[in-house]
Amino acid sequence: MSWKDEVATLKAERNAVILAHNYQLPEIQDIADYTGDSLALSRQAAATDADVIVFCGVHFMAESAKILSPGKTVLIPDERAGCSLADSITAEQLAEWKAQYPDAVVVSYVNTTAEVKALTDICCTSSNAVDVVESIDPDREILFCPDQFLGAHVKRETGRENIRIWPGECHVHAGINGKELAEQAQAHPDAPLYIHPECGCANSAIYLAGEGVVEPERVHMLSTGGMLDRAHGEQSGTVLVATETGMLHQLQQAAPETNFKPVNPRAECRYMKMITPEKLVESLRQMRDEVTVDPEIAGKARASLERMIELGNPGSGE
Ligand code: 13P
Ligand code: SF4
Repeated sequence: MSWKDEVATLKAERNAVILAHNYQLPEIQDIADYTGDSLALSRQAAATDADVIVFCGVHFMAESAKILSPGKTVLIPDERAGCSLADSITAEQLAEWKAQYPDAVVVSYVNTTAEVKALTDICCTSSNAVDVVESIDPDREILFCPDQFLGAHVKRETGRENIRIWPGECHVHAGINGKELAEQAQAHPDAPLYIHPECGCANSAIYLAGEGVVEPERVHMLSTGGMLDRAHGEQSGTVLVATETGMLHQLQQAAPETNFKPVNPRAECRYMKMITPEKLVESLRQMRDEVTVDPEIAGKARASLERMIELGNPGSGE
């Protein structure tokens, strides 16, 4: 039996659904029932009728699925698939920060542990961060964590001054820098720029647009699902893409005539790539690695995730 047939057989036996993030290996994206961005996958996890969710992504995503669907068995094919951004703030650090600003509203990116979400008022993803912040009383101070580049993007878009931003970052997106972006943008003067707001070059893109080096209409700050939506109507011959390179698989399928060129072709998340076809088969065969969350933590974290899901951009890339 091929690994694909084995996955199909085991999936039916277990009544399992496979969810995959847009940065997964192409063969994992292709075999998944749903491939999408963080928000779309959270929605799928909350709504599924399956008994088992196999989450092909990183640990915080599988943890969110468990929090949203506590009655289901949630598996991740390799529990070591972590996230440098989620590691950039601990629950203890957030508790200390909150103690300094007791009246502030805490907005956390979903790239955080369940313990951090439990101390959060409302979560956000890159596709709805602006909507989430705009939903908060303009007079309330906001603590935004952990991504500094997404925080800067939200601050710029909302024009809000009362946001304090935690200095965390994702090592993959922070490594996509302004110098590379400027060089590529000049080498491809007509190409639109699809930029994930977690990128180190996000500020540079706005700066380059402000300086007239790049026309502002070329700059599109998008979540991975937003990139896919935009690609479906893409007319340009070349598009420059600033995000993890796993995204190119789906973009290329959405617009086969367009050449999607990575701004940094080395921008690969080693955690996302820990999920392989072999591990997916083993996961379904042996029902591992099971993801669990302490029920008290899960209850508090669920409130912050559900507030997000009820609001803002419905998510895309499904
Ligand atoms: P989105 O898919 O929500 O844009 O998130 C990107 C990411 O880095 C997830 O780890
Ligand atoms: Fe985390 Fe960055 Fe990998 Fe996304 S790409 S999972 S934010 S380390």
